[in-house]
Amino acid sequence: MRAVLVKEFGPIGSHQVEEVPDPEIGPGEVLIENHAIGLNFPDALMLQGKYQKKPDRPFVPGRDLSGVVRAVGANVTRCKPGDRVVAQVFKGAFGELVPAPQERCFVMPEDMPFEEAAGMITVFNTAWVAVEMRGRVQAGDTVMITGAAGGVGLAAVQRCKARGATVLAAVSSPEKGELARQNGADHVIDTNADDLDGLKRHLQAQVEAATGVAEGRACNVVIDTVGADLFEAGLRVLAFGGSLVIVGFSGGSIPAAKANYLLYNNLGVMGAPLDIQFEHMYPEMERGVNDMFRLWTEGKARANINARFPLEDFAQAFDMITGRKVMGKVVLTV
Ligand SMILES: NC(=O)c1ccc[n+]([C@@H]2O[C@H](COP(=O)([O-])OP(=O)(O)OC[C@H]3O[C@@H](n4cnc5c(N)ncnc54)[C@H](OP(=O)(O)O)[C@@H]3O)[C@@H](O)[C@H]2O)c1
Repeated sequence: MRAVLVKEFGPIGSHQVEEVPDPEIGPGEVLIENHAIGLNFPDALMLQGKYQKKPDRPFVPGRDLSGVVRAVGANVTRCKPGDRVVAQVFKGAFGELVPAPQERCFVMPEDMPFEEAAGMITVFNTAWVAVEMRGRVQAGDTVMITGAAGGVGLAAVQRCKARGATVLAAVSSPEKGELARQNGADHVIDTNADDLDGLKRHLQAQVEAATGVAEGRACNVVIDTVGADLFEAGLRVLAFGGSLVIVGFSGGSIPAAKANYLLYNNLGVMGAPLDIQFEHMYPEMERGVNDMFRLWTEGKARANINARFPLEDFAQAFDMITGRKVMGKVVLTV
């Protein structure tokens, strides 16, 4: 089969699509004929060797795909050959055939297009962990989401709206703000500032204008996909008892919280890691995937596909993510 092969970590453009042996499956595994691949920021880190977990080389990277089940191993009960499935795997999605543990495969609604499912699985699962499991967003809450026009950000916007929250979308351009609004955001918060102090003031002033709460200390939850200065500035718009949920660091640097600031302002900071939830909280994750299917079926959630590329052009597709140009999702077709 043809697949992106990482022989050694390096710049994304240093990897190529190559002919590799077809994967074999064992007990409990499913072999999927790939139709569509969803690209995520962590995929870009994985190809460059910057992701926290590093597979042995050579390997086929990629985490999100959808397609048709070709074969199943012994003891597989969750799907059968011919089923249309979406899967979230640790690696292997950037190939024509993908082996997946059955627990990571989900039979899709009949009318759901492959590209939609592949574009939604990781970002909606991440938003499920951040919004529901960790942030415990409730109807009536005010939530600010950073990187709100990115993949996880837009999924979080849609999930928070479905939950009945007021959503503040923090983004770096008017176009990104417009996309967040189209997905249900109530207010757009501009994130451009010269330095950290300027960003704190800029965010507080805009959140105060949007909510009427003095100094902008209005948010029950901040969902932070960017990190860097937005993390610290995000703490300044939390209400008494509010929580900041850490999703990622697309801004490129890992911030630190001052413990005394959290103490004196009665605030919480918590992590929202996706992958280990499958090990610790599998029934909850299964509930999240079914909820994603429900929202899609009811027209309350979508992938927001921004660009499509053939598998061969994966490096060009990743330029959109690393160049901060993507709005919504980029998918590869197989
Ligand atoms: N917790 C988990 O398990 C988990 C799972 C999946 C993803 N993540 C993390 O969540 C974050 C978002 O992932 P994603 O797939 O949604 O990414 P994405 O679609 O590429 O969106 C990332 C957003 O980050 C903002 N950004 C700020 N500085 C950037 C920079 N230098 N380069 C690129 N983007 C920048 C951009 O919004 P603005 O231009 O508006 O600032 C962009 O829309 C990443 O850090 C990723 O690693 C975590």
